[in-house]
Amino acid sequence: MLTVGALGAVAISATVWPFVDTLNPARDTLAAATTEVDLAPVAVGQRLTVARRGKPVFIDHRTPAEITAAQNVDPSQLRDPEADSARVKKPEWLVIVGVCTHLGCIPLGQKTGDDRGTYGGWFCPCHGSVYDTSGRIRQGPAPLNLAVPPYEFTGITTIKIG
Ligand code: FES
Repeated sequence: MLTVGALGAVAISATVWPFVDTLNPARDTLAAATTEVDLAPVAVGQRLTVARRGKPVFIDHRTPAEITAAQNVDPSQLRDPEADSARVKKPEWLVIVGVCTHLGCIPLGQKTGDDRGTYGGWFCPCHGSVYDTSGRIRQGPAPLNLAVPPYEFTGITTIKIG
């Protein structure tokens, strides 16, 4: 009887543990809850990808031409109307989640030589969504702009994401 009871206890704990475990964030999730990024090495025109909560975050040190292109758009003409000024804290730095808002592919545009699409931002080859230099959807099936994650500048060239 004692043996059966002990086995029963083991069976119960084995059943309960995964359930309890799912209620707590994984340790690596907690570790990545905020991400501090030093932007100083990122030259004008360069793009950097960092991971946050298992997703890529695209950081773009935009050129003056890219900034001008992003600002010279009438938001009312956009599928997901947003002014560039509402998507950046400093015009030269764009910080966006690198996940296409159609079905979740990771758009091209971060690497040198990538197809950036007609608007010079990002291009999702899965079904042809095209984003501009503010990460706003301009062509293709994606319904929304690439999301801006919560972040703040903690120094002149340092940001904390998340
Ligand atoms: S997932 Fe990007 S266009 Fe479909």
